[in-house]
Amino acid sequence: MFVKTLSFAALAAASIASAADLPTISAVGSKFFFSNGTQYYIKGVAYQLTDQDPLIDKKQCTLDANMMADLGANTIRVYHVDPTANHDDCMAAFANVGIYLFLDLDTFDTQFDQALPYWNQTQLSAFEAVLDAFHGYSNLAGVFVANEAMTMLNGSDTAPFVKAAIRDVKSYRQSKKYRNIPVGYSGADIPTLRPMLQNYLACGSNAADAADFFSLNVYEWCGKSSFDVSGYKQLVANATGLQIPIFISETGCRIPKPRTFDDQGSILGPDMENTWSGAIVYEWIEEANDYGLISYGPTVDPTSNTAALDGYPRSGTPSPVSPDYSNLKSHWATLHPTGVSLSAYSAQAATLTPIACPSMTPNGWAVNPTASLPSLGQTLDLAATSTGGLGGGKPSSTAKQGAAAAMKPASVLRGGNEVAGMGISLICVMLGFLFWL
Ligand SMILES: *[C@@H]1O[C@H](CO)[C@@H](O)[C@H](O)[C@H]1NC(C)=O
Ligand SMILES: *[C@@H]1O[C@H](CO)[C@@H](O)[C@H](O)[C@H]1NC(C)=O
Ligand SMILES: *[C@@H]1O[C@H](CO)[C@@H](O)[C@H](O)[C@H]1NC(C)=O
Ligand SMILES: *[C@@H]1O[C@H](CO)[C@@H](O)[C@H](O)[C@H]1NC(C)=O
Repeated sequence: MFVKTLSFAALAAASIASAADLPTISAVGSKFFFSNGTQYYIKGVAYQLTDQDPLIDKKQCTLDANMMADLGANTIRVYHVDPTANHDDCMAAFANVGIYLFLDLDTFDTQFDQALPYWNQTQLSAFEAVLDAFHGYSNLAGVFVANEAMTMLNGSDTAPFVKAAIRDVKSYRQSKKYRNIPVGYSGADIPTLRPMLQNYLACGSNAADAADFFSLNVYEWCGKSSFDVSGYKQLVANATGLQIPIFISETGCRIPKPRTFDDQGSILGPDMENTWSGAIVYEWIEEANDYGLISYGPTVDPTSNTAALDGYPRSGTPSPVSPDYSNLKSHWATLHPTGVSLSAYSAQAATLTPIACPSMTPNGWAVNPTASLPSLGQTLDLAATSTGGLGGGKPSSTAKQGAAAAMKPASVLRGGNEVAGMGISLICVMLGFLFWL
């Protein structure tokens, strides 16, 4: 009797401490599903309060998670975490309100370098450490091996290295017998590279080498626009036939103000719900780039309050940025795509064949569709790129790695936490517009 009481108490304590166990997410064919068979559409918010790790402060996560539930979000995206920290409380805070996480595996030190791309054991070990730290959370929806690794028209030589990373992270996931946590990529919206990159990461007869999903940072729908005018129509055209899920990993033009988020009606409605799996809005916190949905209070003098970094408070009680927050909330309140059930879809998913590997295009996509992927430890052979793609590929030499370190622009690109990336996206939209003209 006594023993029974004890074990009951222990059980109760354990269930209080552990997070709500949400149905897990998997990629099946070109869609995401909850493990209960319902299709998963992303209503997400980018969440990176500091350059470090926003998932270690229970109180802050709880405040934010509860407010995101009010907004109607079911997903966050986090760009950097510290795999040695404990994330139990924050992951529980989000799970308790039904919120899933898409997580970037790379950090400033391990991200791809488009000036001279390489993929090596230092990066892989760092990515593995993040997967080890997060795989056990039922609300981990998926991981990105990179964010905007290619931002220039001549950057496509980086793509094979990104795909090699996807291959190796998936192989690690299998070797550790983790569940099939979707592994994918988040790309910059460069119209002349975008469909080729998307198809390249998905193509090939060996599914173990292919991305489990593709996603895109899109800033095309600004102010009053429409499905036809914004460019979203092309997004759908280019996703047709893709055998893996695709979604928008950042969206939300901020000029003109206020942000109306009218694109949500297309993304989560009849225009796109059959090909796309939703979107993540950039971003939760109001900071210098002025994309915030909430703020933690007025700006302060950054020299007297270092926790505020650039003067924007990074913790506290969130208060809505008006009317942007309520504009998004009203859209999400009316948008409930149901898609298909897994049982109705799985037979069709099994018949899908991989999309063709894209051929090279003049002054654009420079990856040889038949070249094999780089091996771990390989650096781009610049001498071979004039003939396209990887050529024979050589193992990296110390000299090349030194050059890569010296040329590294990537930390700058990502260092402003998307400020620079955003500028590039805007430039790309303008280039796309010229191209369209
Ligand atoms: C499956 O789980 C999701 C997320 O919790 C929920 O929205 C959906 O209603 C569930 N579907 C079924 C059939 O229970
Ligand atoms: C790619 O283009 C940029 C700017 O347009 C240039 O600075 C860079 O050297 C080019 N890289 C290669 C490998 O050609
Ligand atoms: C992408 O869509 C555009 C516009 O519909 C089309 O011109 C282009 O051929 C498509 N590219 C690919 C690779 O599907
Ligand atoms: C991977 O490349 C980086 C940058 O060149 C270097 O710092 C690191 O030591 C390399 N790791 C290995 C295992 O070679």
